Amino acid sequence: MASTSNGHGSNGTNTSRSTSPSALITGGASGMGLSVATHLVSQGWNVCIVDFNETSGQEVAERLGKQAQGQDHVQFVKVDVTDYEQQAKAFVETWARWGRLDFVFANAGFGDKQDFYAQAEERADGSPAKPNISVIDVCLLGVVYSAFLALHYFRKNDGKKGKLVSTSSLCGLYPGEGIPLYTAAKHGVVGLTRAMARKLAQSGESITVNCICPGDPMWLSGNLLLINALREGLVDTGLTPVLMAVSPPEYVTPHTTIVKAVTSFLDDDSKNGLAAECSGENVHYRVQQEFGDDKAEWIMTTSFERLWAKRKEEEEGKGK
Ligand SMILES: NC(=O)c1ccc[n+]([C@@H]2O[C@H](COP(=O)([O-])OP(=O)(O)OC[C@H]3O[C@@H](n4cnc5c(N)ncnc54)[C@H](O)[C@@H]3O)[C@@H](O)[C@H]2O)c1
Repeated sequence: MASTSNGHGSNGTNTSRSTSPSALITGGASGMGLSVATHLVSQGWNVCIVDFNETSGQEVAERLGKQAQGQDHVQFVKVDVTDYEQQAKAFVETWARWGRLDFVFANAGFGDKQDFYAQAEERADGSPAKPNISVIDVCLLGVVYSAFLALHYFRKNDGKKGKLVSTSSLCGLYPGEGIPLYTAAKHGVVGLTRAMARKLAQSGESITVNCICPGDPMWLSGNLLLINALREGLVDTGLTPVLMAVSPPEYVTPHTTIVKAVTSFLDDDSKNGLAAECSGENVHYRVQQEFGDDKAEWIMTTSFERLWAKRKEEEEGKGK
């Protein structure tokens, strides 16, 4: 039977550890999050669906719970990912229920809410009103909170290990000129992924951090009016119903490609710090761009703690 946020274990005191691996998926009530959740449930995982759409979330948890053969493998927690405390509660409930958290898919998102380039109306003092930047709150801030919480709970696991995968976009790798705020947020997700992955690998922690970058064709992202009407995207999800009607089929990325990219990170510990560009049936693993020169590389790869310690040692040596 599917359980919800009202089910047992919400006080975080359950210390028993499930024998099945556990996942928390934000934006799991629809689209790509739902496809990944469905796949994991079919593979015997416990899945916590995190979403602010309560109707879909509960319906999905109920349905997936039945597919999980009536066992207590699925729960739904209603969360607005832009609210840290709400997200924290979902992690607490997941831990309380299953006593482990193996995978977090930080996936919830939507598109730009405002035409950033449109002539703004002036207020009395001549300045334009504050723009609507909620896309950054959901697509970047929400992912930052998920990443912070994931790190904490992964370190509570046996072996202190876990896998974080976030959803960026082709707009995380290339400019979507018509949707600059979405582009900024999704570039932010790629940056967060690469920075965390490198640091955790340096520290020898068994936690991998990767992201997926699904499609958004340039010919559409260049047309802001169309994008505003249709929202961004080219995987057939809740974000893209009308877009699907006008997209040539060869440019549509199937959900199977998204599931393939995400599970490739679950199956392979050596994949870390990668941005999986999902395009049609293909997954291209993008690494960071090359350094412009050795100075840039030195700045970005040198440990300043070590340099500082060396300098102090030298100064103390001189003082003797
Ligand atoms: N569809 C595409 O082609 C495409 C392309 C590139 C990137 N993306 C990204 O993929 C991710 C998933 O989107 P999708 O295409 O599956 O769309 P979708 O609308 O089907 O699913 C998104 C889910 O996120 C939830 N959500 C939105 N804001 C939330 C919030 N503040 N708190 C909690 N839940 C919230 C929605 O309720 C929904 O269930 C998003 O980050 C999106 O930007 C989609």
